[in-house]
Amino acid sequence: MEDLSLRTNSGLDILTASELSPLFWRPARVGLVSAWWEHVPFGQWLVAAIRPRTLVELGTHNGVSYGAFCEAVVREGLDTQCSAIDTWQGDEHAGHYAESVFSELKVFHDAHYGSFSTMIRSTFDGAIEYFADGSIDLLHIDGLHSYEAVHHDFESWFPKLSDRAVVLFHDTNVRTGDFGVWRLWGELQERFPSFSFVHGNGLGVLAVGESVPSVVKELCSISELTRLNAIRERFALIGERWNMEYRDAVRVAELGKREHANAVLGSEIASLKDQLTHRVEHGAQLEQALEGVKASHRERDSMLQAKEAELALLRAQLADAERTRLTLHTAVQQQRDRGDSLAARIDELKAWGKDLMASNDVIRAELVDMRRAPEKNELHQIRQEMSVWRKEHEALQVNVSVLEEQLRSSGKSRS
Ligand SMILES: C[S@@+](CC[C@H](N)C(=O)[O-])C[C@H]1O[C@@H](n2cnc3c(N)ncnc32)[C@H](O)[C@@H]1O
Repeated sequence: MEDLSLRTNSGLDILTASELSPLFWRPARVGLVSAWWEHVPFGQWLVAAIRPRTLVELGTHNGVSYGAFCEAVVREGLDTQCSAIDTWQGDEHAGHYAESVFSELKVFHDAHYGSFSTMIRSTFDGAIEYFADGSIDLLHIDGLHSYEAVHHDFESWFPKLSDRAVVLFHDTNVRTGDFGVWRLWGELQERFPSFSFVHGNGLGVLAVGESVPSVVKELCSISELTRLNAIRERFALIGERWNMEYRDAVRVAELGKREHANAVLGSEIASLKDQLTHRVEHGAQLEQALEGVKASHRERDSMLQAKEAELALLRAQLADAERTRLTLHTAVQQQRDRGDSLAARIDELKAWGKDLMASNDVIRAELVDMRRAPEKNELHQIRQEMSVWRKEHEALQVNVSVLEEQLRSSGKSRS
């Protein structure tokens, strides 16, 4: 580590002191999902300060805490063997995540830290055998956070810790659900020197080894409250910056998702608008067709009305014709009756004519006799009477002819 403080001897030296550099390094995994962001500056500083020979992390996920440790190894040029152990499947507290989390980290890890670090995809228990007892200088326990799980992790890995060992516990200040690190942390604080950060869900620094580096010893033995608070506040403040960047990244990702969703919605809206336009056009066509149908209905209605008027007229004409028929029928009946009486009268007249003819014959005979007889004056009288009778007879004949004619014509109209 280059000591910038050696360059000058002013009051500004403290601001440029190389010991502070790890606090200001830009973290390796900026913007990725993690609850560890507020501790990254401390993680970088701690590794640079204690220079562990072997570093093991139980629970790595996106590699935010592990990236902080490894970044210090790279930047400080340390001879540290690092191992990250995780199933990379998630758990009940971290949630279960996609396979891409492992593959993305692996690519990044191999490119940046492959020369001194190994990603061990295993359960914590399954990887224990790969580490010699008393070999680990820095152990970070950040797996499942129930009391039982974290207690088991600490106890099972305890034999692997060296005499310089420092153990970090995340989530020492989470008191919800079945999170139980706080409880184990309370127990361990009774057994080992420790330092606690309260921010960022709590980070516990446990000085397990008897020969932990002096800086850790000092940290774990701070009794002066102002000093303790200064360290807590400064790390909280400087760590917050990366948490904000992470939250920004989350917001940007959410914004991207929303923009994508908006774009999808936009195209859906455009297609719906198209459909709407088509429907409106179709509706207009239907309305036009409806108007046509209405017009033809109106035309039919008026035709119907005309037909009904025509029908009413025909009915009236029919009624008139019926009345006329009845009148004619009555007239015919009357004519018939009259014809019958005329026929009877004709028969009567014919009979009378016959009688007249007969009496005429008699008279003629009598006239012949009278011509032979001398009484000429009497004959003359008789002749005059005959002449009268003849005229009456002719008049009767005319009368009969007229009646017969009437009879014939009334017979025709009856048929
Ligand atoms: C809280 S996350 C780790 C967070 C990480 N240290 C960071 O900086 O963001 C816990 C991780 O531990 C892993 N894990 C939990 N229990 C485990 C077990 N018994 N064996 C292996 N991995 C485990 C999960 O897969 C998960 O990735």
